[in-house]
Amino acid sequence: MATRLVIDGGRPLEGQVEVSAAKNAALPALCAALLTAEPLTLDNVPSLADVTTTRALLERLGGEFSDEPGGATTVRVARLASHEAPYELVSTMRASVLVLGPLLARGGVARVALPGGCAIGLRPIDQHLKGFQKLGADISIQNGYVEARASRLKGTLITNDLVTVTGTENLMMAAALAEGTTVLVNAAREPEVSDLARLLVAMGARIEGAGTARIEIQGVPEIGGARHRIIPDRIETGTLLVAGAITGGDVTVTGAAPRHLTTTLAKLEECGAAISVDGDRIRCVARQRPRAADIITSPFPGFPTDMQAQFMALLGVADGTAKITETIFENRFMHAAELNRMGARIETDGSTAMVRGVPAYQGAPVMATDLRASASLVLAGLAAHGTTEVSRVYHLDRGYERLEDKLRSLGARIQRAG
Ligand code: EPZ
Repeated sequence: MATRLVIDGGRPLEGQVEVSAAKNAALPALCAALLTAEPLTLDNVPSLADVTTTRALLERLGGEFSDEPGGATTVRVARLASHEAPYELVSTMRASVLVLGPLLARGGVARVALPGGCAIGLRPIDQHLKGFQKLGADISIQNGYVEARASRLKGTLITNDLVTVTGTENLMMAAALAEGTTVLVNAAREPEVSDLARLLVAMGARIEGAGTARIEIQGVPEIGGARHRIIPDRIETGTLLVAGAITGGDVTVTGAAPRHLTTTLAKLEECGAAISVDGDRIRCVARQRPRAADIITSPFPGFPTDMQAQFMALLGVADGTAKITETIFENRFMHAAELNRMGARIETDGSTAMVRGVPAYQGAPVMATDLRASASLVLAGLAAHGTTEVSRVYHLDRGYERLEDKLRSLGARIQRAG
């Protein structure tokens, strides 16, 4: 299986390309199927490694899938065949923890492997577990597994100590079938959370306030099936626009949701790119060398941590020095050392990175360490003089659908190699 991407850089990307559906909305949407015995149809599930893992997990739990020619996927969990999410699946994809809420709510019992740490941080799930306990579940950790039990969850007030995206999604799904009303305070406001709420309401749940920091869920005894179109991927959109900016090109992304990218687009403009929006089309024209701009990541609607690595690549060739502050994950600068191998001048110290822009990257062999780090190395390779080889691209395949095909359609010289 091809494990590397080979990129001959140094040419401006031009043209338009369509964005895929959001990975971080597709995964919880698929898990929502566990909440009902009725079929759930998702119109545009992206082909990603993480989606394949989620399908395998749902099949273990009793899910049956059918794929329509037009790309729609129907999943039905007529009955729960198991209540266990095994370590071998959860260890490959932390988002597997999103089955915990639905299993507990519908079946009253769940055994889910505790996700370990990952390249970008420890990533505990204490807020998820605290929330389930507040809903009345008995929670224990045994042999590396979360054991959760509840005859019927009971609605209550849950105040999260910090903003957690999948934590909000997990608790929202559990509360949908609880007895009484649940209020989630300090909830995540990410568009993916709102998209999941939109799906759950279409299934018959009663949810208000999604997209704000206070979500109210009035539990119902059961919910049904639905048909749902997943939102576009705002991180893929941002990545493609940065590809235009870093190569001095002119790129238009179609099928996008500009309102989900406000801070990303503002930061691109601060870096000197000309951004124009027309309906679901976003155009980025950048004929000049980027300007340096400081970045502080924060929960939505702040600047997304999932765009930090891509902007570090852009700022690596900017005119001036930029300071990047990563406030969400404690170890999300792994790409800095690899960019330095391409001639960048980046120094990191804890949660800050100082990026002193250089005129150009040099092509080099580099290694991906996580999903967004791999995207930043591809972007640097597109701008570099000479050839860049990015290894361990399996990281990329977890969250980008056919990225190199899309980049090639914009004029990039990029291909996979064994
Ligand atoms: C989601 O992860 C996304 N993944 C991540 O995208 C994204 O980086 C992250 O949100 C932040 O936007 C999916 O949606 C599948 P969090 P999640 O819980 O939910 C700490 C990508 O590149 N925390 O919001 O796991 C945690 O350690 C991926 O597509 C606790 O301490 O992130 C982190 O520091 C990477 N206890 C912070 O909160 C908890 O119980 C935010 O994490 C939960 C989280």
